[in-house]
Amino acid sequence: MVIIYLALIEYELMSHATSYFTSYFTSYEQSLTQPALFWQQQAERLPWFKTPRHPVNTSQSPTGRWFEDGEMNTCYMVLDHHVLNGRGDQVAIYYDSPVTGTKSSVTYSQLLQQVSLFAGALRNQGVAKGDRVVIYMPMVVESAIAMLACARLGAVHSVVFGGFAAAELAVRIDDAKPAAIVSASCGIEVNKVIAYKPLLDEALKLAQHKVKSVVVLQRPQLHAALQAGRDQDWVELLAQAHKVNAVPVKATDPLYILYTSGTTGKPKGIVRDNGGHAVALNYSMKAVYNMNAGDVFWAASDVGWVVGHSYIIYGPLLAGCTTILYEGKPVMTPDAGAFWRVVEEYKVKAIFSAPTAFRAIKKEDPTGQLLKSYDISSLETVFMAGERLDPPTYDWALATIGRPVVDHWWQTETGWPICANPVGLDNLPAKAGSSTVPIAGYDLCILSDTGEILEANKKGNIVIKLPLPPGCLIGIWGDDSRLNNVYLKEFSGYYSSGDGGYRDENGYVFIMGRTDDVINVSGHRLSTGEMEEVVGAHDMVAECAVVGVKDELKGQLPMALVLLKAGSIIDETQLGKEIMAMLRQKIGPIAVLKSAHIVTRLPKTRSGKILRKIIRNIANGDDYVVPSTIDDPASLDEIRKLVVNH
Ligand code: COA
Ligand code: AMP
Repeated sequence: MVIIYLALIEYELMSHATSYFTSYFTSYEQSLTQPALFWQQQAERLPWFKTPRHPVNTSQSPTGRWFEDGEMNTCYMVLDHHVLNGRGDQVAIYYDSPVTGTKSSVTYSQLLQQVSLFAGALRNQGVAKGDRVVIYMPMVVESAIAMLACARLGAVHSVVFGGFAAAELAVRIDDAKPAAIVSASCGIEVNKVIAYKPLLDEALKLAQHKVKSVVVLQRPQLHAALQAGRDQDWVELLAQAHKVNAVPVKATDPLYILYTSGTTGKPKGIVRDNGGHAVALNYSMKAVYNMNAGDVFWAASDVGWVVGHSYIIYGPLLAGCTTILYEGKPVMTPDAGAFWRVVEEYKVKAIFSAPTAFRAIKKEDPTGQLLKSYDISSLETVFMAGERLDPPTYDWALATIGRPVVDHWWQTETGWPICANPVGLDNLPAKAGSSTVPIAGYDLCILSDTGEILEANKKGNIVIKLPLPPGCLIGIWGDDSRLNNVYLKEFSGYYSSGDGGYRDENGYVFIMGRTDDVINVSGHRLSTGEMEEVVGAHDMVAECAVVGVKDELKGQLPMALVLLKAGSIIDETQLGKEIMAMLRQKIGPIAVLKSAHIVTRLPKTRSGKILRKIIRNIANGDDYVVPSTIDDPASLDEIRKLVVNH
């Protein structure tokens, strides 16, 4: 850390930008040398029921437990507090839905009313502090209301992204064991109405866990059939409910579980606490995003992803900002000017989306003609995350939008940025391909596979020295050992991010991609290990390997290499179609396959382990070294030929 810090100081002197750096340097250094003091000061910016005095405890978990003597309620912090402090008439959420032709807004006071009432409705359904509630909803204001109502009761929400299939939903229901599920009759994807209720009904049939209460929001586009005794209509429930006050919880009590893909078929339920989460997000809203109370912040994502949790809902509302819930796409709803229309209409100060969204806009409107017809003067910064921001997209966005473009790196596990250009503190000079520098509390190192700290410009494993700052995962739901096994075992004393990359001589961080079987398709995180399980279940498949390959629009797409069972006859196109259908059925429509290839053998080590990394490197045209442990070096020829032919 010290070496990197010194390198950055050197860079500061070299670039003659001394005043710009002071604030980031001071705070970053203090966050590492005096973490308790640093985060205590941040905690005191929030309205606690009982202000914590012991910021961090590492005796129970090496990742650290934050503010364990503090008492609070996240919903109180994001709603009641602002209403009590004169922000009641400010718009909390703008809802903009080009797919239904609907726009509305809700003030902080109105949102508090609706959330308090829905919390009462959930309580009437038997939901109490500590109970889990699965939320399977499209991008409507009610999804935010449901999340905040859970927080109000001290219940633990688990939002499942609408693009997942019934089987994925069932796995999450069985793992979280919810007391209730909140859903809607349908979602809308551009011009298709997606019936959610049949998917939910199927998931409930597949799941072992029996759910007593299902609350359904009937949308005008589609009416869902309700099962008597179990299913409740949202509006009818509200009519019988009374408002409830925020229930005090401990800072370390869980606020939510969010499932994410790992290297195995079983998704990991990332558990986030209440106190550390609130403190970290509130800090990030100013330090990273430069947002002040009253500003309009727009994360063009989905509530089903961590970006939606942190920066559509909790972050902006904690900071007293106005947020936007956008039910649309960057293109096609109706065109590639959609983002700029929203920026103009709501005077958005900062926008945040995935690079894939900007690549889609670039493809449709390469010269920014549509952008020119909107007034985007309110826009100060463009943030991107979720996948690597490739330099051509960065350059295009910078030139076309004409605003600083901040590539920042984080994960579902951390819940807020690990690296960014902290524009609320200092606007550091940007470098294409870099997510700039670590943010307060993240002591980032690059380690070799054997655990040595690597020098500048050497690629390795990106790790974070323990303890982690507030806001990061506190565990994996239902499996205490998994946190240690998945993240802490590989390098003692560090959290393994699963990403590889390097720091340059100025301390800038470059994220080069996953070192495991996780891929990012259109900003959606998926597991190739899980896909292999699905492909392997095809009748004719003896063995398979699924790897992520580069895609110009979607960032990455899965490619399947398949070894058929003896005697199986099927042509490659037909096999591809069947595998695609299975992936849609088991994982969801977001698991789009690039291609499937029948091979006569898969490259393996002598001990029988498939050499996925080499397959991936060959398929992506990256450098690779053939390991001495390879069983049959000629097995790589077939893959090389496939790549040449595609
Ligand atoms: N519910 C149901 N189905 C969904 C869904 C949802 N919430 N989200 C996506 N799908 C479906 C789509 O309808 C599509 O189905 P189809 O194959 O039947 O047409 C399939 O999943 C793939 O969708 P998607 O991955 O979105 O690809 P696309 O080609 O339709 O659109 C983009 C490409 C780039 C425009 C789009 O992926 C996008 O907006 N990405 C940004 C992602 C993002 O914000 N990520 C959050 C991280 S910040
Ligand atoms: P998710 O948990 O869905 O947010 O996905 C996290 C993963 O997305 C990270 O581990 C990275 O592999 C990738 N990712 C997120 N942001 C970036 C970024 N700015 N640059 C490169 N990769 C990123």
